[in-house]
Amino acid sequence: MEAIRTENLSKIYRQGLRQQKVLAVNDLNLTVSEGEIFGFLGPNGAGKSTTIKILCDLIRPTGGKATIKGRDVRQPEARRPMGYLPENPSYYAFLSGWELLEFHGTIHGVSKSQIRERGMALLEMLDMTEAAHRPLRTYSKGMIQRLGIATSLIHDPLVIIFDEPMSGLDPVGRKLVKDLMLHLRAQGKTIFFSTHILHDVEIICDRIGIITRGELKFSGDLTDVISDSFSSYEVVFRNPEPHQVQSLQQEKFSLRTYEDRVELEVDKEKLSEFLETCVKIGLEPYTIDPKRFELEDFFMGFISE
Ligand SMILES: Nc1ncnc2c1ncn2[C@@H]1O[C@H](COP(=O)(O)OP(=O)(O)OP(=O)(O)O)[C@@H](O)[C@H]1O
Ligand SMILES: [Mg+2]
Repeated sequence: MEAIRTENLSKIYRQGLRQQKVLAVNDLNLTVSEGEIFGFLGPNGAGKSTTIKILCDLIRPTGGKATIKGRDVRQPEARRPMGYLPENPSYYAFLSGWELLEFHGTIHGVSKSQIRERGMALLEMLDMTEAAHRPLRTYSKGMIQRLGIATSLIHDPLVIIFDEPMSGLDPVGRKLVKDLMLHLRAQGKTIFFSTHILHDVEIICDRIGIITRGELKFSGDLTDVISDSFSSYEVVFRNPEPHQVQSLQQEKFSLRTYEDRVELEVDKEKLSEFLETCVKIGLEPYTIDPKRFELEDFFMGFISE
């Protein structure tokens, strides 16, 4: 059974005095399998948060339906195994982080001892132990985000839905959250999350979906999108001498010249010939990188359509 499924899901908002229609989600058919990490990608205003809010039954669709583990999301039972991190978490400012965890654990029916055990483990994993007893009004944006993630997991949910979990996090925080997500997958949990950080998606996702203007443009395995194979190298030289640049041009390499560097692409099979030329003219490459087709190239292909 799929962990998450949407069938012809649509949402039209009504906006302003004239009740103008905004088609935020258009006939969306999406499936997320159990035990996978699914990255939901799309530009600003594409309909990601709208889809997520429908999954959590915070708003109702104008067409179609959504299920969690086969149950319609409108049934409270469907939402019981779900953990949710909103796009802009906002909590009672006068509670401490620990009190918020206790509050969420309690309303989910988690026992005191389990809240203590799980809460401490989550705070530890998110490096929030020290700040746990301070009031939330003293937290930074990244600290609220980390606590929001811990809070969404306090009842040990099976299906985890994060709306931009990396938002506002520093590189260390992002790494902690990625590790936590991988840890959750290893426990058999399903994670569905939206993000704009494609590099993180490349590292942790099993499958991705791309949505633009409310329509799902792609859904599939990440390995089908990016591959390890490559056919050329991207070479960069820092501050080459004019005569060295001339020599490269004479060898028919087509160069891109910038103020402080020169870049060029070299076919895979021509690399040794190219390096010989470099030695001959006394020019040392600054970097030589395999030119791979990356998620960004794939993503941009849909956005620029
Ligand atoms: N309450 C609302 N009333 C009217 N229009 C809305 C409402 N919420 C969202 N929209 C519109 O619906 C569309 C989708 O918005 P949504 O928040 O789902 O996008 P998103 O993909 O999450 O974008 P972002 O990456 O910026 O978070 C946008 O055009 C937005 O302006
Ligand atoms: Mg959003």
